[in-house]
Amino acid sequence: MRGNAMTKLAPRAHILMCRPAHFAVSYAINPWMDPQSWAQEDRVLATAAHREWAALHRALLEAGARIELVPPIAGLPDLVFTANAAVVLDGKAVLARFRHPQRQAEEAPYEVAFRSLQNHGALESIRTLPDGLVLEGAGDCVWDPVRNLFWLGYGPRSDAAAQGFVADEFGVPVVALELADPRFYHMDTALCPLTRGEVIYYPGAFTAAGLAAIRARVAPADRIEIGIEDACRLAANAVCIGDTVVMSGCSAALRSAIEARGYRVIAAPLDAFLRSGGGAFCLTLRLDRRSRAMQTVGEAAPSQSNERSAARRHVAANAMR
Ligand code: ARG
Repeated sequence: MRGNAMTKLAPRAHILMCRPAHFAVSYAINPWMDPQSWAQEDRVLATAAHREWAALHRALLEAGARIELVPPIAGLPDLVFTANAAVVLDGKAVLARFRHPQRQAEEAPYEVAFRSLQNHGALESIRTLPDGLVLEGAGDCVWDPVRNLFWLGYGPRSDAAAQGFVADEFGVPVVALELADPRFYHMDTALCPLTRGEVIYYPGAFTAAGLAAIRARVAPADRIEIGIEDACRLAANAVCIGDTVVMSGCSAALRSAIEARGYRVIAAPLDAFLRSGGGAFCLTLRLDRRSRAMQTVGEAAPSQSNERSAARRHVAANAMR
C-alpha cells in the first residue's frame, strides 16, 4: 500500500477556500454552536477568525497548495466550510444538498462558484444530486487516495442512500459508515486518511458496524486511533498534503505518533471555527483528487461485494468509452 507511483506522481494540491468575512455563530445546527456565547464577544471572535483563517491559508500555501476562493456572502456564516460544498473527484463535482435550511441557502452561491471553476478549467463537469438525496459534500465523503475509495459518513447530515449514487457517479468503491456521536456530525470531524495509507480516526464517532468496516480496511499498523481529547480539538479534521499534516491542534502523543510515520505536523489553531464545529479540513475542499486511472476488478478487496461491483461497473464504463 505504501509509496506507490500514485503518491509520487501526485499533482499539486488544488484547494477551494472562503475568507471568513461573514463568519459567525448565529444559529445552532450542531452541539458545538452556541450563538449566545458567540454574541457576547463577537468582535473579538471575528477578529480571531480572520487571523486563524489567514494562518491556515498561509500554512497550506507553504505546504505547496494552490488555492481558489469562493466570494463570502453576508448572512451565510458557514460558507467558509467549503468542504461541504461538493464531492469532487476526477474533475467532476457533485454539488452538495444540505440537511438544514440555514445551510441550504449556500447551495445556489456554491453552484455559481463551481460554474466559474468549470469555466476556468479547474473542473470538467458538475452534477447535481437526485431529488431528495442529502449529501453535505466532502464533509461526509472523504477520499482515501491509497485505498482508492470514498469513506462516506451518514446519519446526522448525509443520507445512507448517497453511497450508491456516489459509487455509480464516480465509479469507485464507497464505504458507508454510520455516525454515532452528535459532536462528530460530519465524518470529516472524526476520520482522516493520510498520504501513505495511515488513517487517523476517533473510534467513538462510529457505530460498532462502522468501526468494524474501518478496521476491516485499515491494517493495524496504519490505524492512528485518537482519544476524545484530541477528537474534541478536531485533530482528525486535518488537511494532509504530501508529508504535511495541518490541523487545529493535538496532544504531544498524537503529534509524535504522526511524526513517527514520517509526516510533519503543523498546528494552525482554529478556536473560533471550533465554536462552529469546524476545523482545518472543513475550511478546505480538494479540487484535484484523482482515482487510480483504470481500476481492475482484481484490485478490489475480495470481501466487499458492493465495492467489487462498483469496480466492475467502472471497468465496464471505461470499456465503453
Ligand atoms: N457550522 C457548520 C455546520 O454545522 C460547520 C461545518 C463544518 N464542516 C465540516 N465539513 N465538518 O454545518
